[in-house]
This record gives sequence, C-alpha cells and structure tokens, in this order.
Amino acid sequence: MEFSEVVRRRRMVRRYDDRPVDPAVVDRMLEHATRAPSAGFSQGWAFLRLDTPIDVARFWDATTPATADPENRWLSGMRTAPVVLVPLTSKQAYLDRYAAPDKGWTDRDEARWPVPYWYVDAGMATLLILQTVIDEGLGACFFGITPERVETFRHAFGIPETHQPLGAITIGHRLPDTGSPGSPQRRERRALDEVVHRGHWGG
Ligand SMILES: Cc1cc2nc3c(=O)[nH]c(=O)nc-3n(C[C@H](O)[C@H](O)[C@H](O)COP(=O)(O)O)c2cc1C
Repeated sequence: MEFSEVVRRRRMVRRYDDRPVDPAVVDRMLEHATRAPSAGFSQGWAFLRLDTPIDVARFWDATTPATADPENRWLSGMRTAPVVLVPLTSKQAYLDRYAAPDKGWTDRDEARWPVPYWYVDAGMATLLILQTVIDEGLGACFFGITPERVETFRHAFGIPETHQPLGAITIGHRLPDTGSPGSPQRRERRALDEVVHRGHWGG
C-alpha cells in the first residue's frame, strides 16, 4: 500500500470479525515498532503481546472496571479483537541512558528533560504499529487503561514497577461496522491553516 494511503486510511476500529491474525503479521508490527526513533537510542520501550484467547480474556478481566456493563457497545466490540498489544515505557531506562558518560546527566534530574522522552518514543513506536496494521489490511484501536485498573493489570501479567503501560492496542480484521465511530463523528478534523504557524505564531 502507498504510504500516503496508509496515513489517510488509518482510523480506530472498535469491532472485529472472528478471523485470527497471522502471527507473522504481529511479528512485523513489533519489528516495525522497534525501528522507531528514540532519544539517545535509549529504546526504553517494551511490548506485552497477547495473542491467545486465554491471554486476551485475561487482559479484559484485569482492565475492565467492576462497574462496567458487559453489554456496553464499546467493550463488547473491543473484546472481539484476537490480539492485544500493550506498549510500555521505562523512565528508568532513559535516566540510566542519559547518566552514561556520553550524555553525562549523572544527577538524573528530571528537570533536565525538555519533555518526558520516555512517552514520546513509545508513542512513536505505537504509531508504527498502527500504521503497519493498516498496511496489512487490518484494523486497530489504541485506548487507555483506566488508572484504577493498572495495578490489577500489572499483577495479572507480572509487569515490573520499572515499566508503565501507555495504553493498549486491539488488533484484528475490521468489520464494515467498526463499532463506535468515536469522537470524529462529533468533531471536525482541524484545518491545516489552523494548526500550522508559518514563520510566526498566527502566520
Ligand atoms: C492517547 C490516545 C488515547 C485514546 N484513548 C481512547 C480510548 O480510551 N478509547 C477509544 O475508543 N479511543 C481512544 N483513542 C482513539 C481516539 O478517540 C481517536 O484516535 C480519535 O478520535 C481520532 O479518530 P481516528 O484515530 O479514528 O482518526 C485514543 C487515542 C489516543 C491517541
């Protein structure tokens, strides 16, 4: 697929059909993720791969709030995905990397960081997963893990304290009815001249 088409066609898919996803395709998504840029080549990301029905069910058990309605349209759609990938990031890996002699931030002071690069890099890797999904003719949705379920999630999958989940990505074969269309149904895409400031703010 043309790259511009990959970019243009990407949108979040929240319901999937029951065809399995070829594990080799998931391998490719993860290989592409590790081609993302990273500050100081820290590569402080990690990915939890859940691609068996049992593991995917464990993910939903661990992350769904007890008060959630199991008939909820979003949840029932998302649960049809045969694959869930969880991108994680390690702030520690960045503090360690930048304390190395070629960087020299031995005080590990977080105030030195222009922005938290550990989130920037894992976000870039996540986008490469989403774009690979489109290139493979599949669908995906990135979504957050509810804060009050993060500990339950950590416990269920043995995630160490050094790593924080960014969110999760459902992946599968898209259905024509992709479930909830999400916010784009209610909001316009912002125009280029509204978001691009050429030469000067407001220019
Ligand atoms: C950081 C982030 C968090 C998101 N969280 C959720 C979420 O919790 N549930 C959901 O259904 N979609 C979530 N989305 C998807 C957005 O709603 C979606 O990307 C946006 O509405 C634009 O639609 P599109 O991606 O289909 O073009 C999230 C996207 C991002 C980038």
